[in-house]
Amino acid sequence: MSAVQHARILGIGSYRPVREVPNAEVVDAIDSSDEWIQQRSGIRSRRFAGADETVVSMSVAAARGALAHAGLEGTQVDTVIVATVSHLLQTPAAASLIAAELGTKGAAFDISAACAGFCHGVALANDLVRGGSAEHVLVVGVEKLSDITSATDRGTAFIFADGAGAVVIGPSDVPAISPVVWGSDGEQSDLIRQNIDWGTAVRDNVDEMPHLVMQGSAVFRWASFAMAKVALEAIDKAGLTVDDIDVFVPHQANNRITDVMIRTMKLPERVRVARDIVDAGNTSAASVPLALSRMVDEGEARSGDKALLIAFGAGLAFAAQVVTVP
Ligand code: UT7
Repeated sequence: MSAVQHARILGIGSYRPVREVPNAEVVDAIDSSDEWIQQRSGIRSRRFAGADETVVSMSVAAARGALAHAGLEGTQVDTVIVATVSHLLQTPAAASLIAAELGTKGAAFDISAACAGFCHGVALANDLVRGGSAEHVLVVGVEKLSDITSATDRGTAFIFADGAGAVVIGPSDVPAISPVVWGSDGEQSDLIRQNIDWGTAVRDNVDEMPHLVMQGSAVFRWASFAMAKVALEAIDKAGLTVDDIDVFVPHQANNRITDVMIRTMKLPERVRVARDIVDAGNTSAASVPLALSRMVDEGEARSGDKALLIAFGAGLAFAAQVVTVP
């Protein structure tokens, strides 16, 4: 396979778990209220996956949607990249299982960059296609965070949720995925983490699932200001200005963070902004592809539009790029 000059997103798909969970269902266990959650985060409801909706099955469903949108078969995919922190089997990777179900060829591996994982996957896929190592790369962002969230943790129980989004990336005649701006601030890795590792939990007979803990207001301050700068850098690296952006798809962490970013970046009012969090919650690695997929389905993001993607979270890891909507 020879190197091609450019890559683009050829198709996008998503899977949302069947069960809708309104705020009313989570408030009692954390002494909260529907009003507080909506005011502080924008969330009204989220989806929790059932026992038969696994990281693998949700990914396969989202991937089938992306393949259909791209007009491709699973056998035409030669690399599968899965971004997740909630595939609870240490090995094999979720990607291997998903690849087997889809009948893809070639490499399949998981990456761990938490909420920023999907945008990391898009960056890798872009460079793999452009470098000639792959022709069609499936990138999945998937989470079943309800498995690793404590229903009694006030700082996370109302935020985290489940779902999957996927894209297929392949060759393009024109530039359609910009170079990524990404990074990791390990000095702040304590701000979002799993409270205890699985080995310790089992060895010490800890009578509770290890779960995510977050220092919400510190993450909020970091995300609101540092991420606007990263997003502007990504636009610049794409050779564009904010006036060229049609669609803004930030990680669905908090509508107030999105609002601060829009103001800081001076994003024009006509830019269409993803607000999937309202009924999807924060689905970590799945949040950006789920939000973009909905905008495509509802005609808010049109083929050829320039979409600014940015995701951030545990690590603290972040990644941003401008992509052309398929
Ligand atoms: O996806 C990875 C990236 N994650 C993020 O970007 C998340 C960023 N953080 C956030 O979105 C916000 O910090 C939260 C939505 C998690 C929390 O909102 P906040 O405005 O930062 O709340 P806070 O933690 O500063 O707490 C404010 C008040 C406190 O009461 P006092 O001290 O003002 O009396 C808390 O005790 O709200 C209280 N509180 C709650 N009240 C009702 C904290 N949690 C809750 C709750 N329900 N669940």
